[in-house]
Amino acid sequence: MMGVTIEVVGLEMAAPLAVLHTACFDPLPETPWSETAMRTILRMPGASGIVAIPDNGVPTGFLIGREMADEAEILTLCVAPESRRAGVAQKLLNHFLARVSATRRVVLEVAVDNTPAIGLYDGFQFHQVGRRPNYYGHGADRTDAIIMARDSTNIVP
Ligand SMILES: CC(C)(COP(=O)(O)OP(=O)(O)OC[C@H]1O[C@@H](n2cnc3c(N)ncnc32)[C@H](O)[C@@H]1OP(=O)(O)O)[C@@H](O)C(=O)NCCC(=O)NCCS
Repeated sequence: MMGVTIEVVGLEMAAPLAVLHTACFDPLPETPWSETAMRTILRMPGASGIVAIPDNGVPTGFLIGREMADEAEILTLCVAPESRRAGVAQKLLNHFLARVSATRRVVLEVAVDNTPAIGLYDGFQFHQVGRRPNYYGHGADRTDAIIMARDSTNIVP
């Protein structure tokens, strides 16, 4: 695993996070978030973000989640293409789950053909609990989302 530290992000990081989000999701069907969208999401009740910063100081991945009464949601998680398969997403997820999952079920949506992300979530014992047809994409080029959930009371150590 590369040396990265995890830091909490605020609205001041909305612009660089939007650039990173766009780079990460191209060419996936999930819509990249603009700086304005990033600000709107970070201002949602219960929303917060964490970013992975390697030694060179340039953010290499981030996770934005939302905490509600008895549930938490991963709104986005992404890692720069050049930094993948080095454990950055695992580190971000571990950090988020350590904070939220003791008392909460954690849910997320992911495109049905997003093999890397589904592999990641499988490894953290997320399970499919639903499906949203034609959830991502535009026009005729649409992809289903699956809904995955992780319940801390069902985790096998
Ligand atoms: C999905 C994503 C966040 C993974 O980030 P990452 O830092 O490369 O992931 P990690 O290195 O922490 O990988 C952890 C595990 O996830 C799984 N995984 C990650 N990439 C994978 C791939 N390309 N194929 C299969 N499994 C993969 C593996 O189980 C991996 O463990 P391993 O390397 O020991 O086999 C990254 O590929 C990404 O940003 N993708 C585009 C955005 C996206 O799809 N976000 C999720 C939307 S819900």
